[in-house]
Amino acid sequence: MGLQWGDEGKGKVVDYLADRFDAVARFNGGSNAGHTVVIGERRHTFHLIPSGALKGKELLVGAGVAVDPSVMKDELAMLPDDARSRLTVDGRCSLVSPMDKELDAKLEEMRGSSAIGTTRRGIGPAYAMRALRLSPRVSDLLNGFDFGPAESFYKKFGLDTSGLDEWAEESRRLLTGLAGDTGARVREVCDGGGSVIYETSQGTLLDLVHGSYPYVTATHTVSSYAPAAMGIAPSYAGEPLGVMKCYVTRVGGGPFPTEVSGELGDRIRSLGMEYGATTGRPRRVGWLDLVALKYAVELNGVKEVAISKLDVLSKVKELRACVAYSLDGSETHDFQGSLPRLGEVKPVYGPPISLQGAEFGSGLSPETRRLIEYVEGELGVRVTLVSYGEERSKTVSL
Ligand code: IMP
Ligand code: MG
Repeated sequence: MGLQWGDEGKGKVVDYLADRFDAVARFNGGSNAGHTVVIGERRHTFHLIPSGALKGKELLVGAGVAVDPSVMKDELAMLPDDARSRLTVDGRCSLVSPMDKELDAKLEEMRGSSAIGTTRRGIGPAYAMRALRLSPRVSDLLNGFDFGPAESFYKKFGLDTSGLDEWAEESRRLLTGLAGDTGARVREVCDGGGSVIYETSQGTLLDLVHGSYPYVTATHTVSSYAPAAMGIAPSYAGEPLGVMKCYVTRVGGGPFPTEVSGELGDRIRSLGMEYGATTGRPRRVGWLDLVALKYAVELNGVKEVAISKLDVLSKVKELRACVAYSLDGSETHDFQGSLPRLGEVKPVYGPPISLQGAEFGSGLSPETRRLIEYVEGELGVRVTLVSYGEERSKTVSL
């Protein structure tokens, strides 16, 4: 689970942990996600295919995912030939059409200065089409879908639907042989003594309902959604692992209490290579926000946490952690209660911590230990994984 605004390093963590599982499943979001896995000199960014793809595992795309067939096609083309034979896409997945992407852009323009800053991958419109009962799903497409109502709807927004037939045909070609029931497959794997890891897209603070609405994505991003989205009972979902960075980033609009601008912000952005994996946009950067993190830990029921990007702050003099928000002269620790006025809160910082000069590789240096203990104490969790570089091997399991 992502405990911040996405880009916590989940792709790397899932790739690392995939060894311990038989299958890797994506359960939410769509090609707005960008999960990066670095092996040696090679950098792979996954948008739809689960990050376990490079570990030769079985791959499941659950019913909660909005599937853009053109993205999936490109992604499969970049993977080893056997990836396709290991992949099942749930028949209940809604598809993202080219019109959904156009609509995404139009809606952003309509919002003007209060634009959400979406990735323009059509995710909001695709999920809206599902809620309107207009969306083509994978199984519908393969069994003859009547595009009439969806087409009329798109036309009302002045969208050109002339490419719809061709798109449907190409999508059918890609998805033939891939569709299945991923929930049933999870049960089969687990009942036979195997195990599945579920990978979320985005972060908790981007959850459609529980995040910083309206500056959120269009799906749930919390752990309790995994079983519903996969079509399994909660008992198949196991314990959630939270992933957090030792600072915070956010792409797109919306409030960000601990945002750091100016030279220091630029420095952290460039040290951490904080540019969107999907859109290339520079990410906004900020200090650790324990108020928001506590909320995310509680919402997900997380007891174990992975911390990423420690190497980045080892090159910066100090690290700050927000321990409370100040609003109208009083302090609060209530993230949910602060949400309606999150843009006005002022962060209250605890004493600075420093990771400067921390070394990694042969055990954990005292600076790293101090930070881990601090995070464990503040959040009431156990840190079980530390990541100190993009490369797969730069990971310590505790
Ligand atoms: P959408 O999901 O494209 O509709 O975008 C809604 C908001 O979620 C925007 O602020 C995006 O920048 C953000 N967002 C969507 N996907 C990701 C992601 O994978 N990482 C970080 N932010 C994301
Ligand atoms: Mg990302």
